[in-house]
Amino acid sequence: TPPARLDHHALERSETAWLGVAVVMTALLFVGVLASVVSGTYPSLKADAGHAHVGGIVRGRVDPKNLAATPFAKPGLVVDAAGQPMVNDQGTLDAYLVAGNFTFQPAVLRVPAGVPVTLHVTATDVAHGFQVTGTTINAEILPGHVAALTVTFRHPGEQHAICNEYCGVGHHNMITRFIVEP
Ligand code: CUA
Repeated sequence: TPPARLDHHALERSETAWLGVAVVMTALLFVGVLASVVSGTYPSLKADAGHAHVGGIVRGRVDPKNLAATPFAKPGLVVDAAGQPMVNDQGTLDAYLVAGNFTFQPAVLRVPAGVPVTLHVTATDVAHGFQVTGTTINAEILPGHVAALTVTFRHPGEQHAICNEYCGVGHHNMITRFIVEP
């Protein structure tokens, strides 16, 4: 009968519409998850590595051709006018490190023991690795990207960050020495 057929078609249209909604919502969810992973807003990783406490890795962006306009222009610990390390809003110290041309700048970084330090690391040329020996800190450093890693060095002494991603002939020379002061 005509009315039954109409109902049938109406039902089909309604099913098609709901299927469309489901497809769109699934796609949006997928894009959202992908975007959060790419931008690094995913929940931070927590790890305890014996020598150091390691917070999450937060990723950001920077123009690798214009580091002069950023804190990366002065690699090292952020200090105040009196030369004292400055505590940021998150309650950590900040240090900026630049990987490029087979070096990390600074080559030596003096940090206090027992105080969380956020290491902001970027690259100027190619992909490098950044691994703090004896910890689970291990990030890929890409031009245009900033990896921010918070670490608390527990004990006075010396620790190293090395490049663990092959980047060319000077790869094995890439090292930053952390002098952890009491
Ligand atoms: Cu830089 Cu290997």
